[in-house]
Amino acid sequence: MFKRREVDSANVLQALGKVIDPDLKRDIVSLNMVKDVEVNKSKVSFTIELTTPACPMKEKIREEAESAVKELPGVEAVEINMTSNVKQGRLFSDKKTIEGVKHIIAVASGKGGVGKSTVAVNLALALEETGASVGLMDSDIYGPSVPTMMGVNYKPGVNEDKRIMPLSSNGVKLMSIGFLLGDDGGPIIWRGPLISQVIRQFLHDVDWGRLDYLVIDLPPGTGDAQLTLCQAVPLTGAVIVTTPQDVALLDARKGLQMFQQVKVPVLGIIENMSYFVCGHCSQRTDIFSAGGGRRTAEEMEIPFLGEIPIDPVICVGGDDGKPIVKAHPESPQTKRFKGIAGDMAARLSILALAGADAV
Ligand SMILES: Nc1ncnc2c1ncn2[C@@H]1O[C@H](COP(=O)(O)OP(=O)(O)OP(=O)(O)O)[C@@H](O)[C@H]1O
Ligand SMILES: [Mg+2]
Repeated sequence: MFKRREVDSANVLQALGKVIDPDLKRDIVSLNMVKDVEVNKSKVSFTIELTTPACPMKEKIREEAESAVKELPGVEAVEINMTSNVKQGRLFSDKKTIEGVKHIIAVASGKGGVGKSTVAVNLALALEETGASVGLMDSDIYGPSVPTMMGVNYKPGVNEDKRIMPLSSNGVKLMSIGFLLGDDGGPIIWRGPLISQVIRQFLHDVDWGRLDYLVIDLPPGTGDAQLTLCQAVPLTGAVIVTTPQDVALLDARKGLQMFQQVKVPVLGIIENMSYFVCGHCSQRTDIFSAGGGRRTAEEMEIPFLGEIPIDPVICVGGDDGKPIVKAHPESPQTKRFKGIAGDMAARLSILALAGADAV
């Protein structure tokens, strides 16, 4: 009688060496994503450590790893533990980083009112839902939206190290000038400060703790204030929000050029208020022209991250402090935000691995 063939961990690693991470375009073994391989007779278990919990390819990688190991003769059961460890983002400047914060992402637009704050809030929540630790910083000093949109507004405390404690809502750490405004409407802590000084304080004097992603909601425009801001913040990437009209797209290009000027990689364009779906007949209407965001992304050779329809539920959620990702977790709009968050996180992983040239 033949002795039953037994696998060892080397066989398992060899099999897993054929599983390619579709975003990072390398096998999961050489990427050091496979950990804790254990073989117990015909049972194999191991951990796959993704580069982000928001990885859109999570299920595909798991399935391919499972079937690769199951194909090994002698293997009857495969147990895979999926975890993640977000890699430190690459900095494209000599600015002071924030200790413990792996990625800082700016949400920007050239034009005002296109939905930056709405997108920033919902992307932050979508990332948090995947299990990532997330912060949201409102850098709009003159028109802060985060307090209203996240439904929290009280004065932050100061810890024993004299650092400001961020507020928290739905697991996301928050900071906004709106939390610090006095009854007279003027800032209590920073009376008449320069924007960049406030921003620096928000970055370095707030106790953000350990964060995988810090999302920054930028004020509208591409003027000096925004430029100063982008230069003050150690960004690892930026996303540009636009609406489909030509005027907005023109400004989106300016936004893009601004980031190129300060050498911050643009992770992609998001087209907000793209179209309207009738609640009664489900027909899609392109209120503005169609496809402008995608075309602009193609022209500028940056990724197009997706379209978000115009929907009264999104607006009401913003006004009521109940963002759609939390208020309507199963809605198609929420799925869009989650999809965009995943793609954005994947691009950050690619950048962290390979540097700006990979984008
Ligand atoms: N997809 C959408 N559907 C419906 N309403 C939306 C959508 N996106 C944003 N809004 C609404 O449009 C208004 C402007 O959005 P928001 O404040 O996010 O824009 P903004 O770009 O941050 O503006 P600002 O330039 O003033 O900072 C808000 O009332 C918001 O609720
Ligand atoms: Mg805003």
